Amino acid sequence: MNATIYNCNVLTLPKIHNRAGNITALNNSLDLPFDTNRVYYLYDIPSGEIRGGHAHKALQQLIVAVSGSFDVTIDDGHNKKTVSLNQPNFGLHIIPGIWRDLSNFSSGAICLVLASHPYDTNDYIRDYEAFLQYKAVLGCS
Ligand code: TYD
Repeated sequence: MNATIYNCNVLTLPKIHNRAGNITALNNSLDLPFDTNRVYYLYDIPSGEIRGGHAHKALQQLIVAVSGSFDVTIDDGHNKKTVSLNQPNFGLHIIPGIWRDLSNFSSGAICLVLASHPYDTNDYIRDYEAFLQYKAVLGCS
């Protein structure tokens, strides 16, 4: 499938609330659209920095602002949209074949990423022109 940004959705994650606060628990299969094999988080991001700047060939991710806020711009080579994340019980599901940039990190923001596969440098497309060519070969741009 040649992915489009319209296949990337913001998911509402479960929130268990009581007077002592909230907890969000994410179980493979039950709460997530893929099985998680890696978790990482971005933090201490200097003001004005941009992260991401790549696409993945096979990796799926769920991106959550567990603290603070930031924007994720997704791009399928044809259309682009920017999603603002600012609540720990919402996550942006990014499917393979989508370019992403993360920007506008608030002070103290923490970006939690659940990933479908272990880290693999060969799964990255880091050059935007190469991304457009990759999409063209798949036949949608
Ligand atoms: P990078 O993918 O460039 O970060 P971002 O897309 O958020 O800007 O990764 C930065 C560094 O961290 C790079 O040296 C690779 C390393 N890294 C790992 O070792 N494991 C991982 O799971 C990730 C995401 C990055």
